[in-house]
Amino acid sequence: MSDTKAEKLIIEGGHRLQGDVTISGAKNSVLKLMAASLLTREPVHLSNVPQLSDVDVMMDVLRHLGVTVEQSGHEITLCARDITCFEAPYELVSKMRASFNVLGPLLGRFGEAKVSLPGGCSIGKRGIDLHIKGLEALGANVKIVHGFVESKAKRLVGSEIVLDLPSVGATENVMVAAVLAEGATILSNAAQEPEILDLADFLNAMGADISGAGTNEIVINGVKPENLGGVSYHVVPDRIEAATYLIAAAGTRGDVTLHAVHPAHLHSLTHKLMEMGANITLPTPNQIKIQVDKRLQTENLTTLPYPGFPTDLQAPLMALLAISEGTSVIRETIYENRFNHVGNLKRMGAKIEVEGNVAIVTGVESLSGACVKASDLRAAAALIIAALEAKGQTEILNLHHLDRGYEKLEDKMRQLGASIQRIPVTDENVLETTQQQQGVE
Ligand code: UD1
Repeated sequence: MSDTKAEKLIIEGGHRLQGDVTISGAKNSVLKLMAASLLTREPVHLSNVPQLSDVDVMMDVLRHLGVTVEQSGHEITLCARDITCFEAPYELVSKMRASFNVLGPLLGRFGEAKVSLPGGCSIGKRGIDLHIKGLEALGANVKIVHGFVESKAKRLVGSEIVLDLPSVGATENVMVAAVLAEGATILSNAAQEPEILDLADFLNAMGADISGAGTNEIVINGVKPENLGGVSYHVVPDRIEAATYLIAAAGTRGDVTLHAVHPAHLHSLTHKLMEMGANITLPTPNQIKIQVDKRLQTENLTTLPYPGFPTDLQAPLMALLAISEGTSVIRETIYENRFNHVGNLKRMGAKIEVEGNVAIVTGVESLSGACVKASDLRAAAALIIAALEAKGQTEILNLHHLDRGYEKLEDKMRQLGASIQRIPVTDENVLETTQQQQGVE
């Protein structure tokens, strides 16, 4: 992968997106499957692995723990036979919050884990209290010492756990830890995201005994370590990447067919786009086709846990609502501070007012190109959508955010007819601020 810190995108707006695009494997699934490979001493083979900087970071975390990692194109093989260390250091966890997912499997298999606190980030507080409460309910002794979560247990014991809110990460850490616990764990008010189901399917293929994943109650019957073996597994399609292309197509009044997707995982978005006036069809069970030939109408939006509207699509959809007809009210209920993209959209001519966790967007006829900086991964996607819609040229800086979660975005967009190129940043002042930015989705 290229060093994205010193690059920027130049996008010439106004080109209609048309044609076909193939969606990659899900970032938010593969990172958790990789972490869960720590549960077995046998080799784990993953296919449909997206080529992303976050996957590189997870490979580094696993190597640090002693896992052998072999990568070839979109496939990786991981083997956690000889784990030499139970500690995930600050340098790696601070790069990417999903590194915290090694806590559950290390504790479950070895009875010991020390993982750096991930900390908050630009979009909100992002606590870990629910992870800790869940692991404590399984009998772990958990302490926070010098910025690390230190946890120990002889053998975890199954328990009934009710999460205060359906946290994706806490559901994953507790579910994975409970795989090798003694007896049954019933996890209620669990997150229901497709990536949770993918993780449960992966664990069951390894020999775990999990039912109910994808609903709000997951039952994990503990198994013995010798019951877990190697596995070959294909990562679920990335619904957020897919959604980004649907919204970009809508914003350019395009005609685009997505391939290798699970349409059911995108229902909250496709329903919203159809309400706005887009024509959406399913040519085959793994394709979605979107056609838009007029200005869309605005709709209100509230982010919610799955199957509600995903917070990760709030910024991208805002970039479409910004040029739709009417006024929309956007409520962000998952994170405290997820409107960092608003200032940049306003630089491009959007009319948006923010009051607490509500943004009021009044659609304008068109946006105009400007020089902007991505503040996080999905903000980067929103700015790209806005740039494709806008009149004139947009420059987007801070591409390291983008490269965490979108595989070959420029190639895919160019294939659809976008005018987009990546060039080096030469201005040293810009570079300095670019390098100071960090993001942990
Ligand atoms: C995952 C996704 C992220 C997505 C989010 C919500 C990955 C790598 N990231 O993040 O893209 O935006 O789900 O769909 O999969 N919370 C607590 N205490 C906890 C845990 C969470 O208060 O112990 C709060 C968080 O601060 C946040 C909310 O719960 O406000 C949702 O967080 P969570 O579902 O845990 O998100 P992540 O797993 O971090």
